[in-house]
Amino acid sequence: MDRFQELLGKKSTLKGWLHGIRGSNKFQFLTIRSEGYLFQVIAEKEKLGEENFAIIKSLSQETSVIVKGVFVANERAPGGLEMYLENFQIQGESKDYPITPKEHGTDFLLNHRHLWLRSKKQLAILKIRSELSFQIRNYFHERHYTNIDTPILTGSVGESAGTLFSTEYFDLGKAYLAQTGQLYLETAIFAHSKVYCFGPTFRAEKSKTRRHLTEFWMVEAETAYLSNEENLDLQDDFVRTVIQRTVNRCKHELEILERDTEKILSYVTNSFPRIDYDEAIGVLQKKGFEISWGEDINAEGENLITEEYNSAVFIRNYPKAIKAFYMKENPQNPKTVLCADLIAPEGVGEIIGGSEREEDYEKIMAKIREEGLPEDGYDWYLDLRKYGSVPHAGFGLGLERLVAWIAGLPHVRECIPFPRMMYRIHP
Ligand code: 4AD
Repeated sequence: MDRFQELLGKKSTLKGWLHGIRGSNKFQFLTIRSEGYLFQVIAEKEKLGEENFAIIKSLSQETSVIVKGVFVANERAPGGLEMYLENFQIQGESKDYPITPKEHGTDFLLNHRHLWLRSKKQLAILKIRSELSFQIRNYFHERHYTNIDTPILTGSVGESAGTLFSTEYFDLGKAYLAQTGQLYLETAIFAHSKVYCFGPTFRAEKSKTRRHLTEFWMVEAETAYLSNEENLDLQDDFVRTVIQRTVNRCKHELEILERDTEKILSYVTNSFPRIDYDEAIGVLQKKGFEISWGEDINAEGENLITEEYNSAVFIRNYPKAIKAFYMKENPQNPKTVLCADLIAPEGVGEIIGGSEREEDYEKIMAKIREEGLPEDGYDWYLDLRKYGSVPHAGFGLGLERLVAWIAGLPHVRECIPFPRMMYRIHP
């Protein structure tokens, strides 16, 4: 039962804020924000008396108030119900609130992010994020995956040396902010077989695109005795399940965002197609897109691929040279690795990166040397290839990109409470 249904027909108290107010000399329609929802509250002069009605009428945006009354059904009100005000109490006043119902520029809104969180669409977006986070944890919990909290301060490069944030760490030299929890998750599969982590990750990426943040949340899963293809089965089921559950529980929020729920659900009815990198290059070249074998597929290329299939698409087995050191060489074609990216449609782009991991000691050692990574930082990681090494695979999904896809938003910056980007660290 949703929050609105819980309140229907009940005498209730809302402790909240005045989101908006309009009306006439006889009635005032208050929008009260409480628990992240907007409620319509009707103040009637005849019922409240002249003096109280005048007070209500003079309330300014964002005054904090406690209102009491009975909720009755009204199809046209938000959530299908409205409260008839019986009495109220003013908690704290609010003067000249900077975000008014008029249009504001994005920069202004981001500078006022601490207040912008209170706006209607932002309420809906962060409710969706919250539901999705819950469904993600729930998915792995249901399947007996153990949650392993991986460290944020690390001593070794997780993904690529080029995008590290570093800080001085006492007498021990440099520490890095985690780009991924993967290497630590790999250690934990030898203890728990099936594990996941879900937390903030950091990339000093000098990209100003609509898909990049310098701090983003990633859910990562790692599974022992799993092949790349089985890893794709897991990802496919995982993404489709959490989207279905989130959409079904966030109908109200998606309506606020004018997101067509049928459309998003249609994307997750069937399994996503799986194509090899070679095939993707062929599709792109046929479309006249300039790319040759060995190059990474950029955002524009990704969009062309998802348009071709009208679906999210797994692109498998990329060239070894453009992927991370830990990916397992493809025995069918050693120039490639056993990996896949999941590319989402509607311009969202890559939402998952995953692979089977190299489990052979000599091969992974050679890769670390080849990439010039500091060997001594990896002694613990290499131990895994000495003591009972097994085939294993895993993946990481960027939460904000998935929120953007579900909510139909063009930019990831609104999909996290306080976005961190190249030019933004405040508020
Ligand atoms: O493909 P990536 O770099 O994969 C890893 O970090 C692996 N270690 C994961 C694993 O196998 N356990 O990143 C995974 C996902 C991307 O597909 C994308 O959704 C998101 O993380 N991501 C970003 N999201 C927002 N801003 C950025 N700068 C991002 N970089 C990656």
